[in-house]
Amino acid sequence: MDSIWIKGGNRLNGDIPISGAKNAALTLMPCALLTQEELTLVNLPRLADVDTFGHLLNQLGVSTSVAGVRKGEFGRRMTMRATDIVSTVAPYDMVRKMRASILVLGPMLAREGEATVSLPGGCAIGDRPIDLHLKALEAMGAEIELAAGYVKASAPRGRLSGGDFSFPVVSVGATENALMAAVLAKGQTQLFNAAREPEIVDLCNLLAALGARIDGIGSSHLTIDGVEGLHGCEYEVMPDRIEAGSYACAAGITGGSINLIGARPDDMRATLNALAQCGLMIEFNNRGIKVSADGGLKPLALSTSPFPGFATDMQAQFMAMLTLANGDSFLEETIFENRYMHVPELRRMGAEVDIHGRSAIVHGVEGLTGASVMATDLRASMSLVLAGLVAEGETEVLRVYHLDRGYERLEEKLSAVGATIERRSAG
Ligand code: EPZ
Repeated sequence: MDSIWIKGGNRLNGDIPISGAKNAALTLMPCALLTQEELTLVNLPRLADVDTFGHLLNQLGVSTSVAGVRKGEFGRRMTMRATDIVSTVAPYDMVRKMRASILVLGPMLAREGEATVSLPGGCAIGDRPIDLHLKALEAMGAEIELAAGYVKASAPRGRLSGGDFSFPVVSVGATENALMAAVLAKGQTQLFNAAREPEIVDLCNLLAALGARIDGIGSSHLTIDGVEGLHGCEYEVMPDRIEAGSYACAAGITGGSINLIGARPDDMRATLNALAQCGLMIEFNNRGIKVSADGGLKPLALSTSPFPGFATDMQAQFMAMLTLANGDSFLEETIFENRYMHVPELRRMGAEVDIHGRSAIVHGVEGLTGASVMATDLRASMSLVLAGLVAEGETEVLRVYHLDRGYERLEEKLSAVGATIERRSAG
């Protein structure tokens, strides 16, 4: 297994190109199932999860072809075509590798009238149930059976019918599955308390480009009028707001200045506000967003919440930065029940963090020291990299496959702004 080795202490300065968003790519790709025509996605990030999703789609009968990009450029162009679906089963060995595989459920049900998808099971950050996905599909007439660790879904008479559903809890994935199912259902579907994340807007915009009829895009009340069929299109994946926020924290923690090339301010207002509260300087320019440290880091109180609130996917990265703030910071993780896996490892680097249930108190310290640390999940891994960038001495982040799921060519991007960082193969 590879690891990332970092020698801390460099101030990072320069441009970081922001890649296409992982959490948009993983809901845009299954849209290929909804049409027999070609769907081409541009600016697709080069990530392990994107490759895994491509292999899953291949197993279902979707042809995929990827056009490389010239050296030094980022993002790929993937053309997909689901002329005929050869299987409606998403097997356990695929789903256990990547929970987002559950996002083939809605589109497959819409296209074929049936789908069998392994239950994704939990992961490091929590139980991650899919009950809301299933309830939303049942509201469109789907019949759901759970057996032997699989969800078996079918549409009576082969086609879903529009229906209304109100989400008791905001769920990004359940909203995405419901949207992809509703666009081909017979009649109208209304979704209430739907997720409003920018990745949902990206999905709605792609579905509309394929010929779907959706009102309320960007709001928590979505109205979808099912159509008889969809055509193909070419669509550009939105930039990754979490990657951008993560590298903004790299500027903050190292006392540097990074221009996040291609980042979209409206996707990340809560993150930008929190960075400003920490004392960082935010400048908008025609290439992106420049984030610069401007003296010491100020402590703050943060509570994660669904968009447009402060993203749970930014919590671990902010915690790393706040370990060096001038005072105590208070974090509350309201979305997932176990998203402090980075804390024990940060403590081993000298951080002082007290956890009380879903709350964390981060006591600012003078400095961190490098250590060998273990990555446990994607965003926890990034918080350890951030800590390593500023820690005295050397840090080695093990199990770097977690990072490869969500950060395209991380060491290349960080080296380009002055980090002493390299990937090491463990043999
Ligand atoms: C998506 O996960 C993202 N993943 C996550 O990013 C992100 O943290 C999360 O949304 C919240 O923004 C992808 O887009 C691939 P949810 P998802 O359904 O859809 C509960 C990363 O690091 N819930 O919005 O699984 C659930 O337990 C990843 O990039 C139910 O109870 O998240 C959680 O407490 C991590 N029943 C809350 O809702 C359900 O059926 C929000 O989960 C579904 C969810």
